[in-house]
Amino acid sequence: MSNPRDAAFSFPTLYGQKQVTRRRLIIHAKLCLSVVALVANGAAHARPVQNGTAATPPMGWNPYNVFGLDYGEEEVISQAEMLTTLGLDRLGYRYVNVDDGWWLRRDGDTIRVRTSIYPSAALPDGTTSLQPFVNRLHAMGLKAGIYTDIGRNICSQRWQPGSPNLPEGSVREREVGTYGHHQADAALLFAKWGFDLIKIDACGVADFAADVAEVKQGQFRAFRPLIARERPNLSEPVELARQYAGFVDAAWRASPSIPPLISICAWGQADVNDWAPKYGQMWRTSFDISPTWRSMLFNFDSSAARALFAGPGRWNDPDMLEVGNGEFDQRNLIAARAHMSMWAIIAAPLILGNDLRRMTPAIAKIIANRDVIAVNQDPAGNQGVIISKSGDGQIVAKAMSRPGRKAIALINRGRKPIALSVSVADLGLSPAGALAVHDLWTGHAVATPPGRVATRLAPQETRLLMLDGQPLRQAIDMPADMPARFDVADEGYKAPDRTPERQWVLASIGFLPYGERLMLGRAHDHAGLGVAAGSRIGIDLNGEYQSVSLAPRMPYTGSGRFEVRGDGRVLAKGVASTKVHMLSLDVRNVRKLELVAPSPTRSATTFAWHRILMKRAAFSANASGSPIPAKSVAGRGEVRHEDR
Ligand code: GLA
Repeated sequence: MSNPRDAAFSFPTLYGQKQVTRRRLIIHAKLCLSVVALVANGAAHARPVQNGTAATPPMGWNPYNVFGLDYGEEEVISQAEMLTTLGLDRLGYRYVNVDDGWWLRRDGDTIRVRTSIYPSAALPDGTTSLQPFVNRLHAMGLKAGIYTDIGRNICSQRWQPGSPNLPEGSVREREVGTYGHHQADAALLFAKWGFDLIKIDACGVADFAADVAEVKQGQFRAFRPLIARERPNLSEPVELARQYAGFVDAAWRASPSIPPLISICAWGQADVNDWAPKYGQMWRTSFDISPTWRSMLFNFDSSAARALFAGPGRWNDPDMLEVGNGEFDQRNLIAARAHMSMWAIIAAPLILGNDLRRMTPAIAKIIANRDVIAVNQDPAGNQGVIISKSGDGQIVAKAMSRPGRKAIALINRGRKPIALSVSVADLGLSPAGALAVHDLWTGHAVATPPGRVATRLAPQETRLLMLDGQPLRQAIDMPADMPARFDVADEGYKAPDRTPERQWVLASIGFLPYGERLMLGRAHDHAGLGVAAGSRIGIDLNGEYQSVSLAPRMPYTGSGRFEVRGDGRVLAKGVASTKVHMLSLDVRNVRKLELVAPSPTRSATTFAWHRILMKRAAFSANASGSPIPAKSVAGRGEVRHEDR
């Protein structure tokens, strides 16, 4: 007999009508409530993560992409020496990380290092310590990174059984992951050994279920998965976040003066964007990269759509660079530059993954391009925003600190030449004002047709340009000018099929959660946000703005109650429908603006905040170009509807 709670209903998605069972929605609603509870508790549980660490995207080197598990101290130190010899450290590449494979076994609350590959760890008293190794890196002016797993066991134990560097001993001795040992491990790794960064992987809470053959054979203890890789809706984000919070709290306690940089490796699973920014400075958004064009694009996409989650101290991580490897090697310099451009424009951590000792001068030139690195490291911390995507062409724009300055990447994802063009206005710049355009790979000025940027692109080519122009509207900012000032919280709805492949995104500029373009009439609304129903979008206005105009709207059908709050006070509320009603709000002295979307209903799971235009307080009243006439600025708590 069918369960009435499984009654199906449908909602529109990019891929057509989607069937969802009510039971699944109930599960999602419960999950969401617990995530909210967790976030509310989070403040007490872990200290605020904005501690100045990773104010710009972290840069460094990691052995995994090129060496897998087959490396040790000598290899790492010689790569570190290359960083300093080539001056890459002075360009920002400072974190030198150890990945999986450094341990021999766990002895209760201590971990024994595999001294066959880390000989300096063997101390005269018979104990082991990575402190001498860390000291060597520090003496070179570099920072040292280490690796653990949030579960009992580690990725290599499950996925690389042939590795010579797997933990040894009894079932318990081989449990080198940090589960159940947060305090002791943090004291060892940070207070005692002095590491500056830790990558915290998650295979231990994903891949050791009771039905796994090796678990059944008694090689490992069973761990009920908190990450259900193939069935993301069955993952347990609340418990997973609690585990990360516990370790991070211990890490901060163990190193109160300079907290370590926390790199969360949960592959974009278990709603990592909802909680990771609280506990880590970077979090993976997808599975492991491999040195192929296809894999690189997949990982790029997983981070590129999430611009509103990133900012100083919190970065989407599409994984380490493959520049110099495989399809991005010396024979594929166009693709290598494209890969580097893409990571730069989306403010991704730049963690090199190639063998620096065997790198050709052309590859070295790519990773050492100062202008490209400057795009990535801009202090405003804005992640580039997708402006358009059609066929193989894609355009991403990153607002730089200087007003009127935008970096743009024009990307050819395909294997045929294409032409791409974008209007300057769609990039948020004035078509009438002077515009200087520079190609950051050639270093040359580029001529452009009036009001547009247009280019031809070879297969797999990305052109990375710096545009210096005038803002489209004087003293008015749009979301794409300041994505780092946004934060995204979720109070109600989870897409039932948010697999990495589906790329469901809670909130983004110019697109709805399933990737449909956000349309206003027949125009793509580059100044609007597409969000999930039940979401709450925070914008740090910091008292710098005087008014905000926007139009809350149901993108497809139905109606629902929305709210706009300023520092917790209701500035506007009402019922949004598919009609466009512009609101103008007085936000003088408001530090945090919050846009609260209607709760989800059967037919309406997405919502739109159209044309968000934020007028700076310092702007004089008689300057031209303001889309918010003074008379239409509503008083506090008052809402004015203006039909368009
Ligand atoms: C996982 C991570 C990788 C790497 C390996 C090591 O797969 O995602 O980045 O750390 O484990 O085994």
